[in-house]
Parts: sequence; structure tokens; C-alpha cells
Amino acid sequence: MKLQSRHLLGLEGVSKEDINLILDTAESFKEVLGRPIKKVPPLQGKTIVNLFFENSTRTRISFELAERRLSADVVNFAAGGSSVSKGETLKDTARNIEAMKIDMVVIRHSSTGAPHFLSRVVQANVVNAGDGQHEHPTQALLDMMTLREKYGTLEGLRVCIVGDILHSRVARSNIFGLKTMGAEVSVCGPETLMPRCIEEMGVKVYNKLEEIIPHVDALNVLRIQLERQKNGLFPSLREYHRYFGVTKEKVDRAPKPITIMHPGPINRDVELSADLADGEHSVILEQVTNGEAVRMSVLYLLGTSN
Ligand code: CP
Repeated sequence: MKLQSRHLLGLEGVSKEDINLILDTAESFKEVLGRPIKKVPPLQGKTIVNLFFENSTRTRISFELAERRLSADVVNFAAGGSSVSKGETLKDTARNIEAMKIDMVVIRHSSTGAPHFLSRVVQANVVNAGDGQHEHPTQALLDMMTLREKYGTLEGLRVCIVGDILHSRVARSNIFGLKTMGAEVSVCGPETLMPRCIEEMGVKVYNKLEEIIPHVDALNVLRIQLERQKNGLFPSLREYHRYFGVTKEKVDRAPKPITIMHPGPINRDVELSADLADGEHSVILEQVTNGEAVRMSVLYLLGTSN
């Protein structure tokens, strides 16, 4: 089975069949991660470059582990210490790296569309590891894998994404992916952190957590981007926590347990209380484990389809 595209640039327009193929393949790779020797040969002889122009802990390590577990040769690039600081363009950096005979590029960049641009100037398969405020497709895939594992299906599942929707690539990719898979998606956050016309993406919008909590199976809580406070988009962390912080007291009012998700990194006791992050209904570390399986799946499907 093959994916419809040579690249994974986002989940907008990706079919239900392709998402199911990625998630089903990830389940097989999760079994590999449970073995004493967590390594399989399908990408032997392939070279993958991780181009990280923006900070990352989870995504960078997860991609590198996934690549090594598939037996690929791995090269890591960080913008600091490279010729980017001498003014080299993304196109020149990418084409020079490609001249060293690489097969795949994983890119994280602060500019929206950087992976799309790269896919037009190099022959290698391109995987988006997060571009600006646009998309973070492997994060949404690992979120969907985690929910599918827990509930058996995404069809009809009620998921609310909470927090800074305006600046969140995680929110956008989750909305595209979950809607395609038939989930009921809502978003909740301050009006200043809500994109205009968000309803056009097929989601319901709430400005009060208390109104949506009784009606969801899962809350995907986004990191509050602390730098936004300086721009006056919310008055204080204390006030944000009071109205939009997901706390035990608030979720305990729901008629049944709510699954707690967070893409990380967490600001504990700001957007999510520490007891919930570490509590029995949290799947946050399962998301991280599934991230490795999902990235193995994406790299395998793209790397073996050429
Ligand atoms: N969830 C996520 O993308 O985390 P990192 O920024 O640490 O990669």
C-alpha cells in the first residue's frame, strides 16, 4: 500500500484511507518498540537529514529514534552553528545537502510553508515536523493514534482543543485530521486567541470551558505560548489559569472521565493542573510513545514507495 503523496506536508486534504494506513502501520511498529531489540531493516541504505531551524525536544528526538530504528543513516542539522548564520538561504542549504545524496528531509521551521517550498526544490521526500503556525501533521497523527487506541474508533468521538488556537499548528493539524476521520471537534479559548472564521473549519467554538466539559470524551490542552502575554492577548497567567486552565475541579464536574492530552511542553498549573497531567486519565506519555511509532510509519511509507 502507498500514500497518495511523496511528502507529508500537512493533514489538510489527506484522505481517510491514507490516515488509516499511517495509523495501522504505526500499530505494527509499536509492536517493534516492545521488543528487546527495537530495530528493523526497511530503510537500510537510506539517508535522512533532520533540518531543525526551531527548538524541539520531543519531535526531534522522536524522529531521530524512528529513523535509527528503521536502520536509516541519520544526519542532524541545527540552524545555530550552520552557514544559515552567514546568510545562506533555505533553498541553498537544502540543495547543498541534497547534493550529498540524501533520500529524505524532516524539517521544522518557524516560517509557514517552508516544507512546501522545500518539496519543490529538492528530489528527496519531505516531512513537515512543524512549520510556523501552520501544521504539525505527525503530532496530530500521534494524537489520533492515541485516541483510536483508547476508544477503538475516531468516528463520532468528541474532542475539544483548548487554549491558544490562533497560533497553534497542532490545533490546525488535529482539526484537519480529526474532521476527516469523522470526529466531532470543538475549540475553546479566549476570543483573542481564536482565529477569525474558525467555524469554517467545521468546529464549534466555546469561550467557556464549563460549557463544553460535560460534552467531550477528550480534551487536548495546548501550551500557552508565554510570549503571547507580552502582546496583550491575555491579561495574566493567573487569569488565564482561572478561566481556561484545565483543572481537576473543572473536569470532575463531567458525567464521565475525560481523557487528558497535551502535545508538550507543559506549563504545569497554567493551562493544565499538575495532578491532571500526571493523573489516571492522562495519556500524555502514551502520546509520546505513539509519536515514535507514527514517525516510523510515515518514514517507512514514504521511504519505501519511491
Ligand atoms: N509537541 C512538540 O512538537 O514538542 P517539541 O516542540 O518539543 O518538539
